[in-house]
Amino acid sequence: MEHYMMNLTLKVWKQKNSKSAGDFETYSVKDISSEMSFLEMFDVLNEQLIHDGRDPIAFDHDCREGICGSCSMYINGRPHGPWKGTTVCQLHMRAFNDGDTIVVEPWRANAFPVIKDLVVDRSAFDRIIQAGGYVSVNTGVTVDGNATPIEKGHADKAFAAAACIGCGACVAACKNSSALLFLSAKVSHLGLLPQGAPEKDTRAINMVAQMDKEGFGACTNTGACEAVCPKEISITNIARLNGDYLVAGLTADKNYK
Ligand code: SF4
Ligand code: FES
Repeated sequence: MEHYMMNLTLKVWKQKNSKSAGDFETYSVKDISSEMSFLEMFDVLNEQLIHDGRDPIAFDHDCREGICGSCSMYINGRPHGPWKGTTVCQLHMRAFNDGDTIVVEPWRANAFPVIKDLVVDRSAFDRIIQAGGYVSVNTGVTVDGNATPIEKGHADKAFAAAACIGCGACVAACKNSSALLFLSAKVSHLGLLPQGAPEKDTRAINMVAQMDKEGFGACTNTGACEAVCPKEISITNIARLNGDYLVAGLTADKNYK
């Protein structure tokens, strides 16, 4: 498709902090190239706002290449915007047309309180990971990779689950604000490998307990999480977690917190 320029109207959620009510503010942004990323378009708008002495829009970003999971926002009612399997930083303005109005909102979930505008506090995810504990390794010389054979199917599934970037879109899309797709990806990517197997049961039980403590809702299998996940994490991970969790519960020992 050919490169083109556009003028856009943006309706962006502005919220001073988690205590204030917040509301949409309307902005005009001009001369946006179809080849810019969505975040570059925000950079142009923020430069203009700063130049005019107005408050710039607060949004999270770090890698800008789809690996850190921080560029989280709703665009036109969909987490990470209109492109399937794409983070906001990799969404390009050619997804839009000249004259469009674009509505941008933060994740909405009690467990992700708004810090400012589009920035939400996702530290609940960090605490879930922390609750999973460590992976046992024997220190010493580097082990030959071939010394630990891993069944190809397990390696592929573990690798696919490890693609989760912890962005939180699954929670934002879920009507229950469930974090189970994220959690199941984390449990799968370690539990399927021999290195992560020794603590597999304690990991699942402790992470689920922390998830409940953080105020995420229950999973009712709507599949909304999988549909919006920028890394296309499969809900089969949730089925695997449910199986592991059941077995872990039946064989619980004193190691569980
Ligand atoms: S499972 Fe997908 S949507 Fe959820 S945190 Fe991981 S990458 Fe983001
Ligand atoms: S800025 Fe890192 S995934 Fe988008």
